Amino acid sequence: MSKGWNGRAPAGRIAYVDGRYVAHGRAAVHIEDRALQLGDGVYEVCGVDGGALMDAEEHLDRLARSLGEIEMALPMPRNALQLVMRETVRRNGVRDGLLYLQVTRGAVRRDHPIPKAGPRPSLILTVRGMDMGEAGKRRKDGVAVITTPDERWGRCDIKTVQLLPNLLAKTAARRAGAYEAWMVDAEGFVTEGSSTTAWIVDADGKLRTRDLSNAILPGVTRRVILEAAAAAQLPVSEQRFAVADAVAAREAFISSATGVVPVVAIDGHGIGDGRPGPLTRRVQELYALTSAERAAKTGT
Ligand code: PDD
Repeated sequence: MSKGWNGRAPAGRIAYVDGRYVAHGRAAVHIEDRALQLGDGVYEVCGVDGGALMDAEEHLDRLARSLGEIEMALPMPRNALQLVMRETVRRNGVRDGLLYLQVTRGAVRRDHPIPKAGPRPSLILTVRGMDMGEAGKRRKDGVAVITTPDERWGRCDIKTVQLLPNLLAKTAARRAGAYEAWMVDAEGFVTEGSSTTAWIVDADGKLRTRDLSNAILPGVTRRVILEAAAAAQLPVSEQRFAVADAVAAREAFISSATGVVPVVAIDGHGIGDGRPGPLTRRVQELYALTSAERAAKTGT
């Protein structure tokens, strides 16, 4: 294990970096990499369920879009990238977990403008298993969230590795004994969680999440839920909601590649009867029901 790595790296864990599969503890990029120097990179997190990659096509679509917005292209043909994603999962033998994929602009003498003759982009992939006991408990019992001002930039639709506001918000949540922070815009409306999409079941009984704009990340799980809910004829509404609406909501939950998790308290106020609600349970069921189909689509 290389000096400085302070995480748990089970023996045999493999990363993919710039064309090679290497021992996780020895995987490295150059110190002049623009992601390290300037935050010049984007990423994706894909769920791994029963050894299969979930929604890989949608994650690749979003990756290509994020890259396009920062004047970059996929670092290799899409089908080759899919192969590397699958191979990284396979080599790590992970059944349930998360695949992390990062593309940076590469290593070049530090200077702010995007280099004219681009350096070779860095492509980094890691996979890790999820503690299913912990995740299962969260999905069953629900979690608390706090609200905090959204202090991010104007392009939250780009999945950039620049995550300082997100990690400060998440840290504030954890210090307050909550699991997630819901960020709130200048007008008092919830944008999203620090690493999740925010949902409520509003006073009309509608599943409600903020409409897409530069203020939020277009969540892949968000889309899966909206489609599954529409197919099941559940009422849905893509409309922003205020903190007061959330506190008074019948139910609330968060979604991301890590799954659908009920929210049972916001800023210390119990939501509904303080337990995960029936529509949230239904969304969890629908999400689970789509999983075989979503895994099959990526041919894993
Ligand atoms: N986060 N909003 C933000 C700010 C996010 O970072 C994420 C994902 C989501 C949910 O998107 P999706 O359903 O596509 O996972 C919403 C990942 C999991 C992360 O940063 O770890």
